[in-house]
Amino acid sequence: MSEVRSKKQEVRSKKRTSCLLPLASRLLSLASCLLLLASGAYAELGDKVAGKEVFEKRCKQCHGEKGEGNGIIAEKVYPPPRNFTSGIFKYKTSPGDQVPRDEDLLRTINEGFGEASMPAWKDIMTEKEKRDVIAHEKTFSDVFEIDDPPEEINYGKEVPFSEQSVLKGKELFKKAECPMCHGENGKGDGVKKLKDTWGNREWARNLTKPWTYNAGSKPKNIFARITIGIPGTQMPSFNFTEEERWHVVNYVRFLADETRRVKKEEEDKPLKAKYINIEIPWDADAPEWKGAPFKAVKLFPQDQTEEKYFKPTNDGITWRVLFNDKELAFLIEWDDRTKSVPGDVEAEKLSEGDLFEDAVAIQLPRVILPRIPIEEQLPSIRHGDNEFGVNIWYWSSGTTVRPQLTKVVYSDGIGVKRVEPDNKVGLSGRGVYKGGIWKVILKRGLKTSNPKDDLQFETDRLIPVAFGNWDGSNGGKGNKHTATQWYWLILERS
Ligand code: HEC
Ligand code: HEC
Repeated sequence: MSEVRSKKQEVRSKKRTSCLLPLASRLLSLASCLLLLASGAYAELGDKVAGKEVFEKRCKQCHGEKGEGNGIIAEKVYPPPRNFTSGIFKYKTSPGDQVPRDEDLLRTINEGFGEASMPAWKDIMTEKEKRDVIAHEKTFSDVFEIDDPPEEINYGKEVPFSEQSVLKGKELFKKAECPMCHGENGKGDGVKKLKDTWGNREWARNLTKPWTYNAGSKPKNIFARITIGIPGTQMPSFNFTEEERWHVVNYVRFLADETRRVKKEEEDKPLKAKYINIEIPWDADAPEWKGAPFKAVKLFPQDQTEEKYFKPTNDGITWRVLFNDKELAFLIEWDDRTKSVPGDVEAEKLSEGDLFEDAVAIQLPRVILPRIPIEEQLPSIRHGDNEFGVNIWYWSSGTTVRPQLTKVVYSDGIGVKRVEPDNKVGLSGRGVYKGGIWKVILKRGLKTSNPKDDLQFETDRLIPVAFGNWDGSNGGKGNKHTATQWYWLILERS
């Protein structure tokens, strides 16, 4: 093996020397030199000194002046920015413990991360700035003091996506114990509590949301992750045959769940509630629910008052609404890696610090005045205000000694509130956790006996709706939660 490698190195250094030959004399070798420079020796084209300037302008705030991962906003982002002096890189396409290829560093800079705060610089930096900053980045650690550029893993022959390949991949996924960390259905709800090399709590990726992958979700990207693992994390490498790895890739692709993807172009469009002329089912898997239009929306962290920024683990929810002549119900679904029921031994094991209940809330205006445009009577997103109050329908997962809880909160802004038990307004809720997903149904009459305080649902009107979410295994409680912006709901009988 080492013999093969030194042969390769020899060939490479020969190629490099030939780059120095008079260009006009060897046109053919010029082409191969350019190729070589474009792949292997890329950063040598970058200017370390100019790169330092770029780094100080664009990267220092997070990665720190000396690349130690301790910039001024490092404390506020999760996972923390990389300490480049460690010489450990997570997302690469070079085998084993070889350093990342320049293409890998460039990819990170261009695309940023799906599930971390690192921005995408593709359209912000020039190509020269990117090359220069890479050259500078490499000065932080001596792992880059090597003669030859790292190699690229061998991808072999890609196995096309097919049902058969997916089935084979599913078996191998189990055999490789991927579910221990990623959960049976890939929702990231494994049973193992994970820490990275630097001692931070880490969570296995939710494989049903490929848009959150940090190193790309193309088949080749996934193949590289399975082949190499993710250094610095507990994600191992797998020495299956090439063909077997391609089957696993196809299974991972199969896991993608489009019902969780936020569609930007759909954001402002109202969600149509579906009318049915039977009782609204409590079973979230009933055909009535399956046939209702749905919307996936993004959750943002709320609490920024704590010293350490709250690090959300749930990034979105999917909601839909059914109504009949008497009642209306929301079905709210979200992927949650942990079922947080205080008192539960398994849940306590996975929890980061104290364990609280998982919870979800729906915020609605208290009244919608006729003849005034809805935009002019929109309550403040943060629990309403003294002009326009809100109803907050709250559901929580219960503890081992107390059942799930549903209540209505009447609020006129943060801290200005009154709580009523659900039975007074006829709100009822029920949640089921299965396979890494919470499915919670909250149901109420279209009308109540108190029209001044409770929203009365009318058809053919835009109704503002917002959501809040708490992950009890991740310190979610009280103000520490995530929430959405306002969305629109409309009830139409036809
Ligand atoms: C807002 C904060 C932020 C800024 C600004 C930022 N980064 Fe990062 N960067 C991160 C975080 C967070 C990570 C680690 C993510 C993880 O571990 O999942 C990271 C990781 C990296 C990595 C490691 C990738 C790997 O494979 O492990 C590279 C390379 C990198 N950043 C380069 C840069 C460069 C170059 C700039 C400036 C052009 C920059 N970053 C600016 C937050 C930032
Ligand atoms: C011991 C725990 C563990 C096992 C086993 C494991 N993973 Fe992971 N996996 C992780 C962690 C942790 C991450 C996220 C690391 C990070 O990016 O910081 C991850 C991330 C990933 C990603 C996302 C890569 C990206 O670009 O963001 C994929 C895809 C993946 N794993 C696939 C698999 C497959 C397939 C298997 C089984 C063949 C597997 N994992 C086994 C812990 C594990």
